[in-house]
Parts: sequence; structure tokens; C-alpha cells
Amino acid sequence: MWLWVISILSALLALNLGLVLFFRNRHPEPHYNWDDIDLDSMSFSNKFLWGTATAAHQVEGNLSNNWSDFEEKKGLEKSGSACDYWNRWKDDFQMLSDLGLSSYRFSIEWSRLEPEEGEWNSEAMDEYSAMIDNLIERDIRPVVTLHHFSHPIWWEQKGGFTNQNNIPSFVNYCSRVFEALSDRVEVWCTINEPTVFSTMGYTLGQFPPGKRSIRLTMKVMKNLMRAHGTVYHLLKEKRPSARIGVAKNVTLFDPLNRWSPIDWIVARILDYLWNGAWRKGIMKGKMLGAKIPQAKNSVDFIGLNYYTHFLTGLFMPTSTEELEFAKRKHEITTEFGYPMYAEGFQRAIEFVSPLSVPIEITENGVADSDDSLRPLHLKRHLWIVSQAIKNGYDIQSYHHWSLMDNFEWAEGYKMRFGLYEVDFQTQERTLRSSGELFSSIIAH
Ligand code: FCB
Repeated sequence: MWLWVISILSALLALNLGLVLFFRNRHPEPHYNWDDIDLDSMSFSNKFLWGTATAAHQVEGNLSNNWSDFEEKKGLEKSGSACDYWNRWKDDFQMLSDLGLSSYRFSIEWSRLEPEEGEWNSEAMDEYSAMIDNLIERDIRPVVTLHHFSHPIWWEQKGGFTNQNNIPSFVNYCSRVFEALSDRVEVWCTINEPTVFSTMGYTLGQFPPGKRSIRLTMKVMKNLMRAHGTVYHLLKEKRPSARIGVAKNVTLFDPLNRWSPIDWIVARILDYLWNGAWRKGIMKGKMLGAKIPQAKNSVDFIGLNYYTHFLTGLFMPTSTEELEFAKRKHEITTEFGYPMYAEGFQRAIEFVSPLSVPIEITENGVADSDDSLRPLHLKRHLWIVSQAIKNGYDIQSYHHWSLMDNFEWAEGYKMRFGLYEVDFQTQERTLRSSGELFSSIIAH
């Protein structure tokens, strides 16, 4: 009898160990000794494009969309006039020039263009068009995002991305914007961070519409992929020379304890749901059990947004309010609560490379109100990018999130991501030291 028990226990142990060793081997988690690295050794070619990124709802001000509605209903901090950028964008574009940038990523606000279903506001389109002209005059490449978390209230009321039947109105909006601007805009992101949008809005309930349903999350994930694929083909038909992609947030999931089989299993499942399923959608036209043929090979470049890794175990929080992010002992916690893990940037680059298209870094940055961490954060992450380029990865640009402090969604105004500090009382913008550093790296 005892012999049996001992044999079974040993077999289980061996199995666990085998599993852990397999995962450890396949998914290394490098941590560098940064003191040994000369961060000033980075270099970039003259062709490399330097930018910053913003999103309409976070900067423009006075919008009426799914987000402003959610802020109201949930009693969140209101975006209000945000950076008042809709009235100040000309001055803000001067800041792009002052930094020496050659690219600028921003988003178009659907609720401005089509505030009520079928009613189009041509003045708003003219304003976006004037922005494009202004950027081109400055020799700054515009990169336009069509959906960055916000859309009109009427569309949200119809179920937004939960309902496949709503996709045609989104496609119609994209097509109109493309017709108006694609004579001057070459690079387009259809959707910003599809996985963040679906999990924050439909699993964690921290973004509109504040739902907590796995079933809806899956539906939204697949519909975002369908919408992206459909928009991709339509726009390419209209103008084959356009370069169309998505901005994908690659968050890494690592086991809290690298010897725990359970932590590994949780990490691998989350990684698949967050990253793998999405990449499969683009590579194979299949996602989470659905065939989405229009998604296959539907990117001319991949926009990569990288911020951090999450350390996962059995007891996962189910809302961001409960989130207390774990970190490795030596890691620095950022103001958002998650650790700075620049080494993961390399892993995120490797993750998107099987798509076999050029990579544009569409976002990377840190919440740091007193600018004490941002200079180091910037240098480490840029060093990783420069190394990756040296190792043969086709990375064409880097857009820092963000140009200036702005409305950080569920977190409101307290998370400050800007190279420029914004005083939201006076709307005064002040360049931070990290902004000066960024500009000097660009100038080199
Ligand atoms: C990304 C979002 C962007 C901004 C940064 C901090 O997930 O795309 O709008 O909020 O995080």
C-alpha cells in the first residue's frame, strides 16, 4: 500500500517538475544587471522616426461619448475640458516641433464626426484635416488611430462591439475618415489595444460599459477582430499604398513563483487570452473558436504598445481596484502600481515578430508625476529598442506616451504620463527634464 502511495506521489512530483522545467526553459524571464550596461551606447539610424502619442478623449476636451457618459454614471473624475487641445492643438503641435519629432500618433473622435446616427459634422472633419496639413508643414508624419477606446453614445446604446450587426456603422465611419484624410495620411491604426478595451470594459468593468462578463468579453474580442479585418480590406481597396495596422498592447504574464506549476499554468492561460489568441487571429484568421477570415494577414505593420509584465498566481484580483501588483525584489514600482520591466520590451518585440511585418512602437511611457523615474525609464526602454534593431528586428519608430499629461481613463488626472507637465487650472504646459532628454536623444 505505502509503496503505491509513494510511487504515485513521486510520479506526480516528477510530472510537476517536468512541467515547470518545460515552461522555465521555453519562457525565460531575463533581468539585466543594468549597472553593467552603458545606456549612452544606444544609437539609431537617421531613418528612424521619433514621435509621441495622444488619444482624442484624453486630450481634446468637452466630448460627449461613451466615456463621458461612463464618467458621469460611475461618479468618476470627469475628463471635462481635458487639455483643451481641440482649441490649442496649433500650440501643442509647436511642442512637437520643439521636441524635434518626426512622427505623431493621435486619434480621431467618432462622436465629434457623427454625434447622432447618420448626422455628420463636416466642421469637425475640417479641423482634423487642418491638423494633418499642419503636421505635414512641420515635416511630422501623421499616424491616425480610428478607434482609441471612445465612440458615440448612440452606438454604445446599440451595444457597441458586443453586437456584430453594429460593425457596419463603425466601418462606415472609418471609410469616411479615410476618404477625407488618406490623400495625406499614409499610416493608420484601426483599433487601439483591442484586449485592453475588451477586458477593461467587459471583464473588470473599469471602462465603459462597466460590464463583468466573460461571455461578452469573448464576443467583443472577436468582433474587434472582425471589425479590424473588414476595415483593413476596405481601406486597402480604396488606397493600396496606405499602411494599415493595429496598436496592440503586449503585456507579459510571468508566474509569481517560477517553481510553481499552478502559477505557470495561470500565466500561460492569461498570456494566450491576452496575446496569443490575438496573434493567431491575425496569422490564421481564427480566434477563440471563431473563423474570422478577413483578419488573416490584415496588418501592414504592427503597432506595439509596451508597459510592463504581470506576475500571476492562483489568487488573481478580479477588478483593478483590488489590484496590488506584484513585482520582483529588485524592480522599481511605477506610480501606476506595476513594475518597470524594460527587459520585457525585447520579449514583446519578439512576440510580434512572427507577424513578419515592420514594427512601429505606438506607445511606451510611465506615470511619474515628479519626473524622477521617467529619464531612466526612457533610456532603458530606448536602449532595448536600439539593441533589437541591431539584432535585426525591423522597428521603424518610437512614440512616447505621452506628449503631455492628460486624462488617464479610470484613473483620472492623477496619473501623469507627459513629457510636458500640464497645469489643468491654467492649461500651461511645461517641458519636463525627461522631455529635454528625449529631445537630446532624438538630436543625436
Ligand atoms: C494605454 C492606452 C493609452 C494610455 C496609456 C497609459 O493602455 O492606450 O490611452 O492610457 O495606456
